Amino acid sequence: MIIYREKDYDAMSRRAAQVIAAEVVHKANCILGLATGSTPEGAYKCLVDWYKQGLLSFKDVRSVNLDEYKGLAPDHDQSYRYFMQSNLFDHVDICPENTRVPDGLAADSDAECAQYDAYIRSLGYVDLQLLGIGRNGHIGFNEPGDCFIKETHVVDLAESTIDANARFFATRDDVPKQALSMGIGAIMGAKKVLLCASGEEKADAVYRSVCRPITPNCPGSILQLHPNVVLVADEAALSKLIAAGVAL
Ligand code: PGA
Repeated sequence: MIIYREKDYDAMSRRAAQVIAAEVVHKANCILGLATGSTPEGAYKCLVDWYKQGLLSFKDVRSVNLDEYKGLAPDHDQSYRYFMQSNLFDHVDICPENTRVPDGLAADSDAECAQYDAYIRSLGYVDLQLLGIGRNGHIGFNEPGDCFIKETHVVDLAESTIDANARFFATRDDVPKQALSMGIGAIMGAKKVLLCASGEEKADAVYRSVCRPITPNCPGSILQLHPNVVLVADEAALSKLIAAGVAL
């Protein structure tokens, strides 16, 4: 695992964007696994800036997103499709038909999950998978549990995840209770994983993911088995690793 220790959120965002941009420059038709949430927002801003400056093109890039809330329409302002459009896709030259986000409104969610996995397999898995991490160690919406789930699946969101995401909704009751999430199999199938974290509230999840035993109780810990992980985090998120002498 390569660890980039950055000063703050802005520096973390810029470094994460550099890793993504390097992938796009190196392989113009790369397949990006993308993530939503507050963590990647700054990195997407950098990518949009660099695109506008003519430094990058997404013309031949294809993307698959990690997850989507079950029951939210693509144009709902808290859906992850909406997030991707407004934070990245609407501002760069990626072809709309080359972007995939699980369909939160699919009448048959299980069939949608199976199709999503089949699509990822047909692409030969992603070249670079961007990940944030939940305070509870979740990656995508793979919540802590008794086992790792390989396939894309419907998840019951953890109460702590609903609490964490309530800030984006008018009330806690408005937060969807379920989501469709890429499974651990597709994440681990990525040729490279870019794990990003910012803030003290992520320090424990980062520490448990990097330094503690691999357990489905902390889904991020499975990344210890991936041969090509880049962790980009700010000092606050790395504080427990720094204290343990791991990220110096
Ligand atoms: P955040 O979420 O980027 O909004 O902190 C990350 C996650 O829950 O995976």
